[in-house]
Amino acid sequence: CGIVGFTGLNYQSAPILLKGLEKLEYRGYDSAGLFVADQALGTDQLVKEKGRVAQLEALVGTKNVTGTSGIAHTRWATHGVPSIDNAHPHLSADGRFYLVHNGVIENYLELKQEYLADVTFHSDTDTEVAVQLIGKFADDGMSTFDALRKLISLLDTNSAYGFLLMDRNEPDRMYVAKQKSPLLIGVGEDFNVVTSDAVAMLDQTHDFIELHDGEIAIIDPDKVQLFDADGNETAREPFHLDIDSSETDKGTYPFYMLKEIDEQPIVIRHLIEKYLDNEGGVHVGQAILNDLKAADRLYIVAAGTSYHAGLVGKRLFEQWAGVPTEVHLSSEFAYEQPLLSEKPFFIFLTQSGETADSREVLQNVNAQGFKSLTLTNVEKSTLWREATYALPLLAGPEIAVASTKAYVAQVALQAILAYAIADRATLGFDLEQDLSKIAVGIQGIVDDKETLQQVANQYLVESRNAFFIGRGVDSTVSLEAALKLKEISYVQAEGFAAGELKHGTLALIEDGTPVIALITQAKTAGLVRGNLAETQARGSRAYTIVTQSLAKEGDDFILPDVNELLSPLLSVVPTQLLAYYTSLGRGLDVDRPRNLAKSVTVQ
Ligand code: G6P
Repeated sequence: CGIVGFTGLNYQSAPILLKGLEKLEYRGYDSAGLFVADQALGTDQLVKEKGRVAQLEALVGTKNVTGTSGIAHTRWATHGVPSIDNAHPHLSADGRFYLVHNGVIENYLELKQEYLADVTFHSDTDTEVAVQLIGKFADDGMSTFDALRKLISLLDTNSAYGFLLMDRNEPDRMYVAKQKSPLLIGVGEDFNVVTSDAVAMLDQTHDFIELHDGEIAIIDPDKVQLFDADGNETAREPFHLDIDSSETDKGTYPFYMLKEIDEQPIVIRHLIEKYLDNEGGVHVGQAILNDLKAADRLYIVAAGTSYHAGLVGKRLFEQWAGVPTEVHLSSEFAYEQPLLSEKPFFIFLTQSGETADSREVLQNVNAQGFKSLTLTNVEKSTLWREATYALPLLAGPEIAVASTKAYVAQVALQAILAYAIADRATLGFDLEQDLSKIAVGIQGIVDDKETLQQVANQYLVESRNAFFIGRGVDSTVSLEAALKLKEISYVQAEGFAAGELKHGTLALIEDGTPVIALITQAKTAGLVRGNLAETQARGSRAYTIVTQSLAKEGDDFILPDVNELLSPLLSVVPTQLLAYYTSLGRGLDVDRPRNLAKSVTVQ
């Protein structure tokens, strides 16, 4: 879900809120709504609509929505189906309080029963319970601030919330509170904003104050008051976010995903510039290197595409630097911590820096006193702040739900770290040169889009299912390739360690089933070809993505030769484009696949 709020006496808030929601739409898009109020006119309005932000915008366009302040929300359903009733903002029984909320209140049914048994509800959401409670406490004589605090004190500790509240009696004031869900306060000259993601408000301001768990803030057009969990006033200087708001625009691209795929050579160049020099130096900070070297085992923790990047990282840390490395899904690790080594060090990979499961692990790790490093694309995000160390992925804002350039940045940055702690003399290559070659190689692939569009049309657009296979590091890219295809084209896809097919999955191969083989590892190239032939013997339509020196006659897509363990940086790119063009060919919304959200702040 996404949240925005605005208050400033000399502005119309609705257009600002709608623009913000559009930028946040990748966080959820099954319904949207806004509440706008005007102090001077003494008017206010609530507008909600099912579907996309564009539909809300159209509805707002048919009404005369005026107001200098307001709050808005785009929803990714957790409790209750997508509908107008379940869309935010929700309001209290007497219509005094309006609330938008990200997150999940775990004990909302208990609270409803205990405090609100006689209240009529209009939605199935946990959020409505929260706002009805605020209304009830205010009726009991509490101030809005105290009512919000009281609500928070009643929430189960597992609950997650980013609350943005308005009280009709104070139409140009917003109240915010947060726990686990991200919220930022944007500071302007004669206005202030609230947002769950800075990108939504970059047209307004680049100066943000991050809210910490348990804190509450009261926001007026001309001031921000911050309170800690005990209700004492506190203060925090805003940080300046150096992102050009044009970076969050699609420009002439039909979809963000294509733009982000095309940006991958630049991402690699940014990483080289920031972290490497042409004398073999690596600039990531000595403290990080010392802790990485001191560890007897690395634990990489991540979700989704970031997890797949971690699977590559494991090979890099083990084979280049000789450090045993485990990779874990955060949603599993959080509730079933494996036995740890004596001197563990944790690496969190997260594009958004906000994934709730990953954060849960980080909190456990912190509680046990272990050190950690977060590699994230979002500076000042929660996992950035709470880890011992953090390094930026420098991929630039990633907006498409399906992650592409962040994966490439995560793999490359892990390579930089592994290289930094490895014995260079034994490694015998210069990473700066290798990564530069890769940037050129990726450029070559993205310049060859038409080929991949044709392949997608021939092999995948009409297909019910597809397989990606490979061995070693290619098996990990196969997982990522399959995930990408599934999430944006809805083609059932599996990524497989090629040798494992024959132990069951081969049964799924039928006449015409597409099987795409990744072949970049000399040691296993022949074996993968054998496995591919086994599928062909059962009728598959085979397609090969192969590095030049391993290519044979009849191979399909040829990648330039690079350091073998860095090959995922190249081989993933054609699979991203295959997924993209399959989604496009099927007429789908590439950037906003059904049921998904970019940043998953619920566990
Ligand atoms: C969501 C996104 C994925 C992403 C995953 C992990 O599911 O749709 O693209 O890989 O979360 O997100 P993170 O921000 O932690 O990398």
